[in-house]
Amino acid sequence: MNNKTILGGVLALSAVLAGTTGAFAFSNIERTPAADTAATEEAAATEGGTRTIYDGVFTAEQAERGQTDWTASCASCHGPTGRGSSGGPRVIGPVINNKYADKPLQEYFDYVVANMPMGAPHSLSNEAYVDITAFILSSHGAEPGDAELTEADLGNIMMGRKPN
Ligand code: HEC
Repeated sequence: MNNKTILGGVLALSAVLAGTTGAFAFSNIERTPAADTAATEEAAATEGGTRTIYDGVFTAEQAERGQTDWTASCASCHGPTGRGSSGGPRVIGPVINNKYADKPLQEYFDYVVANMPMGAPHSLSNEAYVDITAFILSSHGAEPGDAELTEADLGNIMMGRKPN
């Protein structure tokens, strides 16, 4: 199901790229490929009902709990807000916007559980990992919403790109 979702994303992206190339081939200089892409993605998100991390997928209270766990288990390497330090890379900003944009939140979560904290993977409860994820999203700039993020949600939420 994850693979299918990723394949879907790749196909959608290919279609967008193909469309962009077409626009250039016909040298229609009025068209701005970037705006087209954004509009296409927005339409897809609305019509398909695909949620992204920018749709209020965690609560403020949950992100606060996550911050406590983050401070204890992750901040020593990734910094207090995830901007990174000499001990670990930045985990917010470009890495979420680019590397994970077309992937479900589940993939990011699975990586974290299987690898972090470095040297002690799987050492926290799944609830703590979910709360930490909420904190990372909040630190990245995603707004909180009314319902807490749960493990069951992770596969249905795409990372997406930060809206302007
Ligand atoms: C001892 C230092 C250390 C600690 C503690 C640590 N990390 Fe990491 N983390 C790293 C390093 C180093 C990498 C880069 C690994 C790589 O590139 O293979 C990394 C990579 C990551 C990434 C991947 C970023 C990307 O580019 O995809 C995420 C997300 C992450 N860590 C989250 C966490 C979380 C959440 C915690 C706490 C539960 C944590 N880390 C604790 C050192 C640490």
